[in-house]
Amino acid sequence: MKFAVPRGTSDILPDAVILWEELESKARRICKSYGYREIRTPVYEDTNLFKRSLGSTSDVVNKQLLELASGKGDEGFALRPEGTASVVRSYLENSFDKKERLSKFFYIGPMFRGERPQKGRQRQFHQIGVEAIGIDGASPFLDAEVIALAMHLLKELGVKEPKLKINSLGSKEDKVLIAEFLRKKLAGHKDNLCEDCQNRFERNVFRVLDCKNEKCGEIIKEILYTDASVGQPLNGMPYSDISRKYFEQVQFSLKEIGIDFEISPLLVRGLDYYTHTVFEITAEGLGSQDAVGAGGRYDRLLDDLGGDEKTEFGAIGFALGIERILLASGRTTAAASGVDAFVIAMKEEYQPQAFLLLQQLRKAGISADMSFSGGSMKSQMGKADKANARFALIIGEEEIKNQAVALKDMQASTQEAVEIENIVSILKDKLRGPIIG
Ligand code: HAM
Repeated sequence: MKFAVPRGTSDILPDAVILWEELESKARRICKSYGYREIRTPVYEDTNLFKRSLGSTSDVVNKQLLELASGKGDEGFALRPEGTASVVRSYLENSFDKKERLSKFFYIGPMFRGERPQKGRQRQFHQIGVEAIGIDGASPFLDAEVIALAMHLLKELGVKEPKLKINSLGSKEDKVLIAEFLRKKLAGHKDNLCEDCQNRFERNVFRVLDCKNEKCGEIIKEILYTDASVGQPLNGMPYSDISRKYFEQVQFSLKEIGIDFEISPLLVRGLDYYTHTVFEITAEGLGSQDAVGAGGRYDRLLDDLGGDEKTEFGAIGFALGIERILLASGRTTAAASGVDAFVIAMKEEYQPQAFLLLQQLRKAGISADMSFSGGSMKSQMGKADKANARFALIIGEEEIKNQAVALKDMQASTQEAVEIENIVSILKDKLRGPIIG
């Protein structure tokens, strides 16, 4: 019987791991430079946490939750489809709201959605995400900071021309009025909408705006989105003055720091928790799944998940898809760095001494390896080359007799005899390189 990796998941093999490590450490450094701290939450949570936060009409909850049921008390739990709900849960559970006025978190890890796999769409994928939450979290500068951080990360991580689209959904109260406005506008066309949109009409009319169905798109264009309003918020949308002003300030702050964007009035996002600013970033070369990242404001989610009702929270975040970043950057592997030293036993009987030396090197912080199957000098030197070793340490008859080791510089092809008791310090000096200046 043969086993294969589950559909929609993939192994990240050692050559690719080097690239992932590089990407993750860059992401950590950049997030920290904006004052965000790493948080790690479990990969599964109470299913109701996701239902309550992402919304029961969202596809992620309706069609894609991967629920656990081993019969060992894990019923009612689901693998996390995204990170925001978990971070908000943890923020409230650990009383960050009592400790700081603004908490800035980032996370890197796997997410799970039972989707139909295709290029750029997997069942297990990875996100780099940030969430800024707190009493001081309702500032348009924070929206601009979070968007700037997303763009900064994407550029540093090799995405060539990320394109930013932004929109505002208005406050929670505005959303009720906007939904009514949309229903009124769409009422005469309801029967011509696709089946999904006919359902969405009552339950979540916003989603009609970004439906991929051609016919729905035409209807939307006809009644809501005339050429005159391209690049502008939708005409006649009943935003409150406060929401309109807030969105203008976000745009102003983005322009001030030189971030290009396009206002996309049909951008509504598939998760229910958003209010005010929403955004999506796309990149070339990804086919139909062209969003490398997305996010937005979710001020009211804190109340919905049990936050103190008397506190006015502000919160905004985003998540970037690591697989899509890699696809967009065109990189699949990175050059492996080699070991510092490769130990060679010239005869099988010297293997114990070679193994002892190997462990001494590793304990001293020198990366090292050897051939456990022994072999000829030539084949072991071949292995040292393959391991990209900087030095070979050769133990032969002469060396055993003199308590020494032959130290071969693999780049310069020079060789010298070194007493075994000095080998660690000499190697360390050589690896450090010459001190300049
Ligand atoms: P999202 O738009 O569902 O938002 O996902 C964010 C990003 O994750 C997408 O733009 C995409 O790059 C990647 N992604 C999503 N699903 C898949 C998949 N099946 N396969 C590969 N990549 C995928 C969120 O997750 C929100 N939590 C973002 C957020 C944070 N909003 C506020 N804070």
